[in-house]
Amino acid sequence: MENQNKMYNINDDIAYTMISEEEIQALVKKVAAAIDHDYPDPHKKLLLLCILKGSVVFMGDLMKTIKRPVEIDFMKVSSYGSGTVSSGNVNILLDIHRGDMQDLDIVIIEDIIDSGKTMKYLTQYLKNKGARSIRVAALLDKPSRRKVDFEADYIGVEIEDEFVVGYGLDYDERYRALPYIGILKPEVYTK
Ligand code: IMP
Ligand code: MG
Repeated sequence: MENQNKMYNINDDIAYTMISEEEIQALVKKVAAAIDHDYPDPHKKLLLLCILKGSVVFMGDLMKTIKRPVEIDFMKVSSYGSGTVSSGNVNILLDIHRGDMQDLDIVIIEDIIDSGKTMKYLTQYLKNKGARSIRVAALLDKPSRRKVDFEADYIGVEIEDEFVVGYGLDYDERYRALPYIGILKPEVYTK
């Protein structure tokens, strides 16, 4: 066919892979095993609370790997600002509305902890709603970026202060669907 555009391949925008699919699956197994270990009573409700949108891929893999019974729910939060800087002013865009908060052990499922402001705010918010207990599972942690005192209970792996995409994480809403975590080529930011 004449004049056919070369098919766009988002993988071509990646400079290099930081964490491969296989490595991610090992991190998922590690976090799932720790959660199974820490919540041994199957009769107590455990809610996996996925924070949209970045955590959706981690959530999908984690909920398939955890062996004990879980319930799932979703919240959507935004911090003002876009691009590669998160400002830390948290807005709740989608809330949970449940009548059984006092019967719930909650594990918040988060893609990455950066400044820590989102998780610090959200854990306090859910405590105020009356949850029995709240922990946070994050696939990635950038401890060097912390602006507030916050530590996740379960961490896949700590990374350096570099902007990453893939496995749910975006740059301006793109690259979430990549099955691995990578670093963008510098020219992508100037396009
Ligand atoms: P925090 O409140 O600064 O900890 O913000 C965490 C949120 O910032 C994450 O849920 C991501 O949406 C976003 N974020 C932080 N670092 C990155 C990154 O390297 N790539 C993509 N999104 C990131
Ligand atoms: Mg984001």
